[in-house]
Amino acid sequence: MNIAIVGTGYVGLVSGACFAEMGVNVFCVDVNAEKIEGLKNGIIPIYEPGLTTIVQRNYEADRLHFTTDLPSVLNDMDMVFIAVGTPSDETGNADLSAVFEVAKTIADNLSRYILIVTKSTVPVGTTYKVKELIRNQLNERGLFDLEFDVASNPEFLKEGAAVDDFMSPDRVVVGVETERAKELMSKLYRPFLLNNFRVIFMDILSSEMTKYASNAMLATRISFMNDIANLCEQVGADVNMVRRGMGSDSRIGKKFLYPGCGYGGSCFPKDIRALIKVAENVGYEMNVLKAVEEVNNRQKTILFRKFNAYFQGNIKGKTAAVWGLSFKPETDDMRDAPSLTLIRSLLDAGVNVRAYDPAAMKEAKRYLGDSIYYASDIYDAANDADALIVPTEWKEFRLPNWGILRKIMNNYLVVDGRNIYNREELESYGFEYRGIGQK
Ligand code: UDX
Repeated sequence: MNIAIVGTGYVGLVSGACFAEMGVNVFCVDVNAEKIEGLKNGIIPIYEPGLTTIVQRNYEADRLHFTTDLPSVLNDMDMVFIAVGTPSDETGNADLSAVFEVAKTIADNLSRYILIVTKSTVPVGTTYKVKELIRNQLNERGLFDLEFDVASNPEFLKEGAAVDDFMSPDRVVVGVETERAKELMSKLYRPFLLNNFRVIFMDILSSEMTKYASNAMLATRISFMNDIANLCEQVGADVNMVRRGMGSDSRIGKKFLYPGCGYGGSCFPKDIRALIKVAENVGYEMNVLKAVEEVNNRQKTILFRKFNAYFQGNIKGKTAAVWGLSFKPETDDMRDAPSLTLIRSLLDAGVNVRAYDPAAMKEAKRYLGDSIYYASDIYDAANDADALIVPTEWKEFRLPNWGILRKIMNNYLVVDGRNIYNREELESYGFEYRGIGQK
């Protein structure tokens, strides 16, 4: 089986490498020549555990290929996946120009049957728009009888666990409208079926909607828990206990109930905005999701507010150590990271920032330039600091040497944005502890 995957971002590269790992012959295509050259030389543009190994292995085995030239491989393919970016435009709508650009290239060069699959997260109805664009273009070329199919196959992988998620997904969602497309997709996913998951076939519009609805539900759980956490603080309850009590109800479940300093990343913020817009465009108002977004925006300011409140607003000239910059652990992704909201507020208030992250320092520099000090490790960041603030729960932050920190810091405030520390332990070292949703 031969497939092309257009777009070598997270979704495209991980999907390409994982399909190749299952024996499929995969061509990863990108317009960015530098990226493609890099990939040929083993340079993986993203930090993702396990990805480098399978990219190299399959590239060497000649099952995974990299090219900038879609037309040259297109007519040897059984299917082509569109996995290019769909960022928010200024109005919150998903910007689909890259998706339609790929569709146009396919239509301009196609000469035999192919299945075209949208894998990027796209607003409901986009796959049909791709189909219409390609049909019109083929007709213009006089190719009225040239058949093709479209399908929707949204990706649910999480950054930092992308390879595992792809290889052992809870389910695979596929939207199709013909038997031929269904058969091809069944064949492609058959090797993964050994892992006991289900392929759920449905119509194309429902498949596109499933992706948005899933992300929206997960984000809703997080904002709901952040609201509960804030209320816990006010009434003297402990959200850690409340979360455990709630999560053990099998109807609720344990996952995605962790309060913190807000969700970030490339998916939740963008997809929530896009779904609100999808609804607006058909005259419907997504009230719950609007609140989810509002609560999240406020939650991203919570670390700064706790720091400011502790020093009663006298923070100009103080120094804050910030541990963790990426929007979550095991990634270097800084998109919509809560750390950025925190650091910008600190800098605006005249606070010096000493930051450390195990993977995202280079990426962070693109956002923050030289406005902060980039520390070599957690202790270097904490040197002479008045407070330690933790927006991201990297494993290596979990058991620091509090004795050393007590000696090298100037003041002893710890603001724990992910509830990874124990209040009693920190207090025994003489620290002032501020968590999320605790007394
Ligand atoms: C998410 C979805 O999980 C994935 O299915 C989809 O394909 C893309 O979007 P990702 O953005 O990689 O994946 O990260 P995820 O692990 O879901 O975390 C998103 C954000 O929510 C992070 O900022 C994280 O810190 C936050 N989060 C997550 C919480 O604040 N509390 C939780 O309980 C879980």
